Amino acid sequence: MESTSKEGIQTLYSKENPFLAKLLENYKLNKKGSSKDTRHIVFDLEDSGLSYSPGDSLYIVPENDPVLVKEILSLLDLDYAEEFEYNRFLKEVNITRPSNKLFSFIASKTSTDGKLLGEEFLGYSTAGVLKAVKEKYPGFSLTSNELVENSSKVLGRAYSIASSLNAHPRKVELCISRVDGLVNNQRVLGLCSNYISDRVPLNENLTKIYLHTNDKFRLPQDSSVDIIMVGPGTGIAPFRAFIEERNHLRQSGKKVGRDWLFFGDQKSEYDYLYGEELEAYRRDFNLSLDLAFSRDQDFKVYVQDRMKEKSEEIFRWLENGAHFYVCGDARKMAKDVDTALREIAAEHGKDPDLYITELKNTQRYSRDVY
Ligand SMILES: Cc1cc2nc3c(=O)[nH]c(=O)nc-3n(C[C@H](O)[C@H](O)[C@H](O)COP(=O)(O)OP(=O)(O)OC[C@H]3O[C@@H](n4cnc5c(N)ncnc54)[C@H](O)[C@@H]3O)c2cc1C
Ligand SMILES: NC(=O)c1ccc[n+]([C@@H]2O[C@H](COP(=O)([O-])OP(=O)(O)OC[C@H]3O[C@@H](n4cnc5c(N)ncnc54)[C@H](OP(=O)(O)O)[C@@H]3O)[C@@H](O)[C@H]2O)c1
Repeated sequence: MESTSKEGIQTLYSKENPFLAKLLENYKLNKKGSSKDTRHIVFDLEDSGLSYSPGDSLYIVPENDPVLVKEILSLLDLDYAEEFEYNRFLKEVNITRPSNKLFSFIASKTSTDGKLLGEEFLGYSTAGVLKAVKEKYPGFSLTSNELVENSSKVLGRAYSIASSLNAHPRKVELCISRVDGLVNNQRVLGLCSNYISDRVPLNENLTKIYLHTNDKFRLPQDSSVDIIMVGPGTGIAPFRAFIEERNHLRQSGKKVGRDWLFFGDQKSEYDYLYGEELEAYRRDFNLSLDLAFSRDQDFKVYVQDRMKEKSEEIFRWLENGAHFYVCGDARKMAKDVDTALREIAAEHGKDPDLYITELKNTQRYSRDVY
């Protein structure tokens, strides 16, 4: 299906027909000694006709780890030289997180309970589950078609775009945190974040990408309006794009309001993502910058603590028409930032619910949280 980019260029690329993009850059933003692995990722859009605005996101369609694919094929007694089987388990079938349907299917063949199996094997990859089940039930087997039919598909993952096209023509840049943790005492490696961090060679047109327009997360139409951005961790991504875009407007002589960023991560020494750029923007473009490094001291300091320290100034900016943006973790951070914003409104004699509703109704409170 053809679609039209914002510049009116016909592009053939979409979710149904992703662009095969060339990875140009992939480097760690955290310094040696950090406990995190957050990557700066750059794709070449070449002549794809793909174009985006600050606030949009990009989907990456990952491929499985060939080591896991070979393990699956061996557990199915298939030869990994069988191209059809290898390719479908590499590209199409989710083998990192077994589905409930698969647990029910295994339960039906082993006279067990699918829900209990799901709980027992939480954190296991599909290969891990098949291996354990085969050991426990020696007669157990399944065909590759049965495995495919009872597994979910590999889906694209969204990433907030961290660049402005005006600053990086024909490129799209992302800030991706590698998911590598323990679930139920099992090491779980996120599919897409590890695929892009480790398994994509540079300068080859190999990675499926497509764009997602997000009209709910946009810079103010009137560039002279002030903006307040709260983006710890990878939440910095769309704000790097916002700041680049507004600096571009400044350099082309437009009247641009003030920019204020609240950023945080674990340690200032290792985890100040885009630190040099942000310090240069503070120096050269008057960016207001408040930093919250949570693990630099014995107690936690978060972006919302910095907001509360600047309660009066935030309120003044908001009363002056500033737009307020939040990006990053949805489960805790975005909720706590919302609470802090309500506290700031209450401290200044406003009804917090009414104040927040009014901000939202006037499109001055936008969130891109995940
Ligand atoms: C609008 C939007 C914007 C986003 N922007 C960014 C961004 O800018 N940067 C960024 O880094 N991320 C961003 N994300 C998150 C991103 O889309 C992915 O969710 C993230 O990279 C993890 O994907 P993954 O494939 O690496 O992990 P997945 O494989 O999808 O795993 C995700 C989680 O599932 C659990 N899990 C996986 N396998 C198992 C298993 N076998 N058993 C039990 N639990 C399991 C783990 O807890 C893991 O943390 C955004 C999301 C949205 C919706
Ligand atoms: N849904 C998904 O599939 C998915 C995938 C990837 C990431 N995520 C979420 O997205 C987030 C992004 O990860 P990230 O590596 O970019 O950074 P992050 O884990 O959000 O950490 C960034 C900073 O935020 C701090 N923080 C922790 N809790 C907070 C809170 N309640 N309020 C404010 N700040 C808080 C962290 O401090 P401490 O660590 O010192 O507490 C750290 O300093 C993760 O938290 C993760 O939960 C979700």
